[in-house]
Amino acid sequence: ALFKKTSKTIGLIVPDITNPFFPELVRAVEDVMNIYDYTVILCNSDEKTDKEKEYIEVLKQKYVDGIILTTNQLQLDEVSEWDIPVVVLDRPLSRSYPSVIADNYGGARLATKHLYDTGCRKIAHIQGPPHVVNAIERFRGYRDEMMERGLWDERLIISGNYQLKQAKEAVIEALNKYDIDGIFAGNDAMAVGALKAVQQLGLRVPDDIAIIGYDGIPLTEMTTPELSTISQPIYEMGAIAARILIKKIEGKPLEKLHYVLPVELVVRQSTRKGE
Ligand code: RIB
Repeated sequence: ALFKKTSKTIGLIVPDITNPFFPELVRAVEDVMNIYDYTVILCNSDEKTDKEKEYIEVLKQKYVDGIILTTNQLQLDEVSEWDIPVVVLDRPLSRSYPSVIADNYGGARLATKHLYDTGCRKIAHIQGPPHVVNAIERFRGYRDEMMERGLWDERLIISGNYQLKQAKEAVIEALNKYDIDGIFAGNDAMAVGALKAVQQLGLRVPDDIAIIGYDGIPLTEMTTPELSTISQPIYEMGAIAARILIKKIEGKPLEKLHYVLPVELVVRQSTRKGE
């Protein structure tokens, strides 16, 4: 068609806004889109493929001008059929779409090395959902760091799904079975769950078990002890993704197709042994 219908709205699909990583990300997207007079329609997919597909249909019927995806469920060929500008945020989908992520592999190595440097040798890792790319990358970083130090033991892998409660239960189970002196949680929500589990078993953080999370959400400063974490530039990630989408919608060239932003180690009480 010669005239394409536009609506000055975009769709933003996240897995679950109740996960405390996402509010800041969503806020950044909205702030930037508002500058350009766009409104953001927020959709929670609950990591379910059907729900994602339904939302895509609805968004298309509403003639959104573009979509930002922070989700992994959809297959690439499905996305390419949409014929609409797409930017992938936080969870990479394929090299063919512009993407903004943080350095998941490097961050996981940093977290594991930090636990090692504080004296931990039996370091467990609580994984994120098995199908989520950034969880897989964080697992790889942990595994490589453990292997290089001759500490690899697959019994120390704890299954998680990025949720606090499930992580708490899983950590209690693991601590009842194995000797563990450090925990690297795949995100901060699970680090909070781990902290609760360790304390419930009457063990001390960090002296018996040191804990580090991943994300850098405000909640990590509110726990006792405060949690060390790998901080992702959450707001910046959302803002860059929004700016890329604007350029795509306006048909302007992109300076760069893939952004991998650096992460930062934030050391707090949960990994400061003997203090
Ligand atoms: O806490 C939620 C996690 O899912 C984050 O680590 C983020 O990277 C997202 O994908």
